[in-house]
Amino acid sequence: MDSASGIGLLGPEDMHHYMDHLQRLDAKTRRLRFGHTIDNAAIQAHCLKLVGEGAQVVALSIDGLVRGAAEISPPNEADDGAREIAFSVEADFQGCGIGTCLALKAVSIARPSPVTMICSADNNGMIALGWRIGARFHKSGDHLECRIDTERRAHSRDGFTDADGLQPAIFALARGYV
Ligand SMILES: CC(C)(COP(=O)(O)OP(=O)(O)OC[C@H]1O[C@@H](n2cnc3c(N)ncnc32)[C@H](O)[C@@H]1OP(=O)(O)O)[C@@H](O)C(=O)NCCC(=O)NCCS
Repeated sequence: MDSASGIGLLGPEDMHHYMDHLQRLDAKTRRLRFGHTIDNAAIQAHCLKLVGEGAQVVALSIDGLVRGAAEISPPNEADDGAREIAFSVEADFQGCGIGTCLALKAVSIARPSPVTMICSADNNGMIALGWRIGARFHKSGDHLECRIDTERRAHSRDGFTDADGLQPAIFALARGYV
């Protein structure tokens, strides 16, 4: 991403911008994001590992600083090639639509793989975001496992932008041409 404000995939050379963002997260947001407390050194190690693993990071930058991001894991062949997405938005920027924006972009990148997300069962922000993007929830202990069938979702209104040629058929159907 070369502009100061925008949304896009970060290359390995830009991973330090993602690390800076994660290190700016307050304690509560860190805990919700990682499921436990995490210090700056562990965040640095986490980011180094991402590059080696081939994970992708979609970042939303404002005035040159990454304020929100979605981490997309490589496909998990043991789970139908599903890709796990993990979100983080800095506290001062939450509730402004950044999470939704990142989720739509991340799902379009992950397609056609199914998408999974894991959060604690009391993470109301993540639950609201999951509902908004068509996730199905499964409670497992004190966690929620969320899953999105990205192919099914591509037929929905939000999926039009990245529906790879499905739009004409959907519009034709909606207008009663077929
Ligand atoms: C979850 C998170 C990514 C959502 O990002 P966001 O930019 O705040 O999301 P949006 O502004 O697009 O809002 C999405 C929905 O969440 C709701 N929401 C956001 N913050 C909320 C909060 N603290 N409590 C309750 N609902 C919240 C919004 O009202 C909206 O709901 P709606 O669709 O009913 O209107 C963000 O709150 C965050 O980073 N949380 C901490 C880290 C985390 O929980 N990560 C998920 C585990 S991987």
